[in-house]
Amino acid sequence: MGYVVRSLIAGLLVMGVAAPLASAQLLRPTARAFDAPPLRVPVDINPDPSVLEVNMSAYVADVEVGPGLKVKAWTYDGGIPGPFLRAKVGDQLIVHFTNKLPDATTIHWHGLRVPIEMDGVPGISQPPMHTGDTFTYDFVLRDAGLFWYHPHVMSATQVGFGLYGALQVDDPSDGVTVDDEVTLVLSDIGFNKFGELEPAESGGPAGMVFGREGEHVLVNGRRTPTLTMRAGTVQRWRIVNTAKSRFFLIDMDGQPFTVIGSDGGLQSAPVTEQTLLVTTGERVDVLVAPRGTPGSTLSVRAMLYNRGYGSVQYRDVEELMRIRFTDAPALPARAMPKTSRRIVPTERAGATEVPIVLTLPPAGKDGKSAFRVNGVPFWEAKPFTAALGERQVWVIRNDTDWDHPFHLHGYFFLQLDANDQPVQPLAWKDTLNIPMKTTIKVLIDFNERPGEWMFHCHILDHAEGGLMGTVQVGPSSGRTHEHKPPPH
Ligand code: C2O
Ligand code: CU
Repeated sequence: MGYVVRSLIAGLLVMGVAAPLASAQLLRPTARAFDAPPLRVPVDINPDPSVLEVNMSAYVADVEVGPGLKVKAWTYDGGIPGPFLRAKVGDQLIVHFTNKLPDATTIHWHGLRVPIEMDGVPGISQPPMHTGDTFTYDFVLRDAGLFWYHPHVMSATQVGFGLYGALQVDDPSDGVTVDDEVTLVLSDIGFNKFGELEPAESGGPAGMVFGREGEHVLVNGRRTPTLTMRAGTVQRWRIVNTAKSRFFLIDMDGQPFTVIGSDGGLQSAPVTEQTLLVTTGERVDVLVAPRGTPGSTLSVRAMLYNRGYGSVQYRDVEELMRIRFTDAPALPARAMPKTSRRIVPTERAGATEVPIVLTLPPAGKDGKSAFRVNGVPFWEAKPFTAALGERQVWVIRNDTDWDHPFHLHGYFFLQLDANDQPVQPLAWKDTLNIPMKTTIKVLIDFNERPGEWMFHCHILDHAEGGLMGTVQVGPSSGRTHEHKPPPH
């Protein structure tokens, strides 16, 4: 099936567009509708079914995130989230990107094993793209899973203003058969009644330390959308948290989530959870079969989760979306489809241990705070090093009073337990939360693609506030670059 046809069907069915409800009902007995605007499927300008080639630009646009809730946002192609890029594992993705923003930008492809030249880090893997600049991102989608894209210039600002989109790489042979599939892009945005964005510096240094959250929580760019379905329908939800600071602890009135995968695709075996924690930058792949009386509504909520001071104090549970059950009688309960994946863990023996300590010393006389990695904020840091082919265990100790979702570019890793055994079920991660006052070990194989790769906290205010670094894999290019401390 050609991509155009496939994306059309994806547009009609998978994304649950509001308008084509009638045709969706015709095609699927268990059809549902989603009143969020569809994740926009871009036009594929390449006839080759194994190539997804699109034009995309970033610009400021008026966006409506709910009835009467308008914001002048920073967008990819005019909407929040950006176009939904969807292809099959092994396909090639080509994005001709133009920057029409008032500021420099780049695109980083979060979680993808791309060549370093495609990693989108300004001053390291490409020059920043100034207003009017174009750049073509072109690489092969080597891994199935849900990924996402966002800028890597002033990322706290730009992601907070609306620049993010989902990139889903399907594996048609993964054997997961369900009644329906939905991709959920969770985010938030802050703006005033005039539709003006909340300044990225709001709250000053304290805002940086807390990690600023936008007051409007969005699912696929919409406030509290309603997903309509027949009770008992087995659905696969692929969820990404693209918020710049907010964690989502998802609850569906205690109904279970069967987690089948995470950042790097399916995990070795499923696990059942009562609530689902998705920290910034992370993805989860879950099977659900929401149940309820036909005609009733079920709330999907974001519960309070303590990721540090300011995240639970004076805060309320948020309603993320609603599930409305159709009048059709509930489908009989049935077992979730079995999923599994053979993951061969990276060899631990002989790996180099790399201690990493995250700290937040008290603010200086100037009132400024900066997070530090091994004693230095990003703008003073030298790259870590790894020989090409070297395996390393990063022992990450979080000495601060805030959680830090730790993200590494370009490589997946496995979490190790206290006995240095890979945590079961095995799951490839590229973003992993390091709770406050906790040490977590991860095993990384720097087996390919030499270059200087970033790591940072995915609370983007923390990253910009110093919690970032790079690892030089293989010989250094000798290029030097400078990083300036943030202005606030
Ligand atoms: Cu989403 Cu530097 O990453
Ligand atoms: Cu952090």
